[in-house]
Amino acid sequence: MLQRSNEPNLAAQIATASHSFTIDFVPAMPSPLSHFGSFPNTRLRRLRRWDWVREMVQETSLSAANLIWPIFVIEGTNQSQPIASMPGVERMSIDLAVQASEKACELGIGAVAIFPVTPQSKKTDCGKEALCEENLICTATRAIRQACGEKLGIVCDVALDPYTTHGHDGLLVDNYIVNDQTVEVLARQAVVQAQAGASVIAPSDMMDGRIGAIRKALDEKGFQHVIVLSYAAKYASAFYGPFRDAVGSAKNLGGASKKTYQMNPANSEEALREVALDIEEGADMVMVKPGMPYLDIVRKLKDNFSIPIAVYQVSGEYAMLQFASQANALDAKAVMMESMISFRRAGADAILTYFAPEVAQNLRG
Ligand code: PBG
Repeated sequence: MLQRSNEPNLAAQIATASHSFTIDFVPAMPSPLSHFGSFPNTRLRRLRRWDWVREMVQETSLSAANLIWPIFVIEGTNQSQPIASMPGVERMSIDLAVQASEKACELGIGAVAIFPVTPQSKKTDCGKEALCEENLICTATRAIRQACGEKLGIVCDVALDPYTTHGHDGLLVDNYIVNDQTVEVLARQAVVQAQAGASVIAPSDMMDGRIGAIRKALDEKGFQHVIVLSYAAKYASAFYGPFRDAVGSAKNLGGASKKTYQMNPANSEEALREVALDIEEGADMVMVKPGMPYLDIVRKLKDNFSIPIAVYQVSGEYAMLQFASQANALDAKAVMMESMISFRRAGADAILTYFAPEVAQNLRG
């Protein structure tokens, strides 16, 4: 069936643009919709009747290999602390984080992402603890690498907020987070983490130019193989609240916002510019964060770039699903799995989620 398309015809537009005459007849192209047939010959419910056929024609899949599990690490041994705003998530001392990572590895989870809970006494204005080879994140990285070998990816977060008394991701000068001086520190932080055994360096700070600086610093020190996963489209979101409780940066921030460096939630074109710059600077993967309220951004990036995309189901999203399930308003397992497949359908390759072990367990049946 040949139908005239309502879409503007590109060939005609190009022809009219480059010649002085106009083309008044353009051969009709079949409309994409003409492939879909019509009722009653076509009944889409036929392919939804049994499990086997639903599974046969399923467009999107999910596997444990797609998952990255963010974990919170504290000092001490055999210590675990619940986080009130994140039911089911615990801060763990390194020995327990190693056990948790071994479990993640057995479940086939791709990687863990380590977030340190730095004691208040080690926080400073300039966050110099970030550069200490014996700090929590580096010590945890070495221990997990030793236990799991190369079977499990280790993602290290590059940003200064776990280490600064003001709780910001960069250096604060005259009440402003300065860019270029911060980038110099971040590049050194990345090298320290790579030396400890990080497989992936993930800058979450949103400074301009940090991807290029980090890539250069890693290469100069012989870490050409270390992956850079840029938090490229990271929004100034209120959904990070429970995370800031978890790492103890909420009280340091004291209500200050990160709007001068993280993206405005009203913007999506700007995400394309962020990603284009990061690819130019050498990013291997890019991230969208938060996840569920920003699935349009995931899809937009997928349609515009051929680079693997990660999405972060952040602490506030996790908290929403958990608290609603605790109140019996939602089925915990069902909404967890539905949120995962939604990320994949939107175009995400990797998913950072606090649900990772449960999802992986669930995929095993
Ligand atoms: C900070 C950082 C944040 C998260 C990951 N890295 C919070 C922030 O930007 O304030 C949030 C993750 C979450 O909410 O789960 N570098």
